[in-house]
Amino acid sequence: MATDEQLDERIHEQVDELMSALTPDEKIGMLSGDTEFWPGLIEMVSEGYNIRPYVAGEVPRLGIDGIRFTDGPRGVTVGRSTCFPVAMARGATFDPELEERVGDAIGREARAQGANLFAGVCVNLLRHPAWGRAQETYGEHPGHVGEMGAALTRGVQRHVMACVKHYALNSIEDARFRVDVQATDDVLDTVFLPQFERIVKEGVASVMSAYNSVNGEWCGQNTTLLTTILRDRWEFEGFVMSDFTFGLRDAVKAINAGLDLEMPVQFLYDRDLPGAVARGEVSGATIDRSVRRLLRTQLRFAATTDDTAYGPDVVACEEHRALAREVATRSIVVLRNETVDGSPVLPLDTSAVKKLAVIGHLAATENTGDKGSSAVRPPYVVTPLQGLRAALEDTRVEVTYDDGSDPHRAAGVASDADAVVMVVGYTHADEGENVAVDMPKEVTSQFPPLPPELGEAFASAFAPTGSADGEGPGIRQGGDRETLTLHGEDEALIAAVAEANGRVVVSLMCSSAVLMERWRHRVAGILVLWYPGMEGGHAFADIVLGHESPTGRLPFAIPTSEDHLPPFDRHATTIEYGPLHGQKLLDHLGVEAAYPFGFGLTW
Ligand code: BGC
Repeated sequence: MATDEQLDERIHEQVDELMSALTPDEKIGMLSGDTEFWPGLIEMVSEGYNIRPYVAGEVPRLGIDGIRFTDGPRGVTVGRSTCFPVAMARGATFDPELEERVGDAIGREARAQGANLFAGVCVNLLRHPAWGRAQETYGEHPGHVGEMGAALTRGVQRHVMACVKHYALNSIEDARFRVDVQATDDVLDTVFLPQFERIVKEGVASVMSAYNSVNGEWCGQNTTLLTTILRDRWEFEGFVMSDFTFGLRDAVKAINAGLDLEMPVQFLYDRDLPGAVARGEVSGATIDRSVRRLLRTQLRFAATTDDTAYGPDVVACEEHRALAREVATRSIVVLRNETVDGSPVLPLDTSAVKKLAVIGHLAATENTGDKGSSAVRPPYVVTPLQGLRAALEDTRVEVTYDDGSDPHRAAGVASDADAVVMVVGYTHADEGENVAVDMPKEVTSQFPPLPPELGEAFASAFAPTGSADGEGPGIRQGGDRETLTLHGEDEALIAAVAEANGRVVVSLMCSSAVLMERWRHRVAGILVLWYPGMEGGHAFADIVLGHESPTGRLPFAIPTSEDHLPPFDRHATTIEYGPLHGQKLLDHLGVEAAYPFGFGLTW
């Protein structure tokens, strides 16, 4: 077996050989996605975003495969893969070994479906619970987020390259294309960057720059971030790719700052770099540097990953679905478990409960998270109601379901039951990735003209239609959460049901903190179910019925008031990120959390 040095030397020689065989045009071509702008984008949207790997830098005549991109983190977005609980749920397990197993499963499924890079290691900190993409990260604490992201990277990189994102300070979704986030060096070093450094040290193959700007420069062309910190200080040796389409404003600045690959289609690099090289604004050495990084990383992974059996049967296989269930079970956080008539409300005692009411439309909804770039299309989803019904099938417990649309009726159902399980919270309509608002004019004005023959295809791909189940074209709106409490209807429903029955357990589907002061003391039990993935309903039943003990803990603090959070403005064009958020801010203010960081009950 070759030693690391021998391997490095061999790769070095191979890169040298390829560099001398590549033409200048081929080299520049390797720095962008391989498809032309409009055909590429139209196809991506019309066939289902991220449903197949996106290729960049393939050079068949030299046997260079290029980057074959797929996304996550809740699983592999390509095909019909295993849908795990969202990353925030996995953060609640506080278990890097378990996360590494998730990474291993994801890496296998990515590889089996033709991808060689998984871009689902999202480690932006949860600074504020309104952030639309909170579900994609692991929590509020840089150390915790870093360890979980490193674990995912380790697992994934046994099979394919991983990409960590969004570098950096990307945590206001609706403002992501326009906000300049300001932070001092100290705040960067101690709060918002340590988890990226941790994952670079883990050997991550790639870094994706963020859409927003930091301290006055867009992340995709920010020399301080991409060179001074990433390369000079952290000694990152892989390659940097842009976030998709809106990731840079100026090709010359970006390549000189250290952005190696523009994704996902031919756009600014393809249009501007040839002329910039001819004019001497970008040196040949700078182009070569980026091409070398891309080649070296690809070859290193091709050399170090074992190329055995990645058959199609690995995708959503039984073992991975069992893992999705295990992770979902381990992620559920029990926040409240009061004693009613001498015994705690949870787990439900099936010998005493003859009639169980399940209330709330989310109990019967396939709710696995947002419909943005991280959406996974699993072969099936077990809802909480289905999970409970399956688990109670051979018992005498009678399950009655009410969708909660009429609180009065639901209260009637509740009063007739021995115990009530409610499922309330959010969906992709409330929180998630948002590509629908305010595309930056500085970028859209640079789009190439739409070829007339593509007019019809464009209109149908980008029409604001599509099914609400994530199967249809396009990406649907999520964005930052408008309210930190539950919807008024959910709160009214809880009030009505709690009035009717003393044994009510409220289960929350959400990605981050929900302010619950108006109702949390009125119900006997509260648990956080998150967006629990394709097996979530079974996991839910396992906890609620006591087949498993809960071990999940909050990866963020839940405050009692919005006043205890840092400033957040979804319309911001500039914002300062300070040293305090989450539990640290609560401690600094000297106020109690409703439930502190790390909180979780068990039995
Ligand atoms: C998201 C990235 C994602 C990319 C490709 C962008 O809209 O911001 O997180 O990796 O799409 O799916």
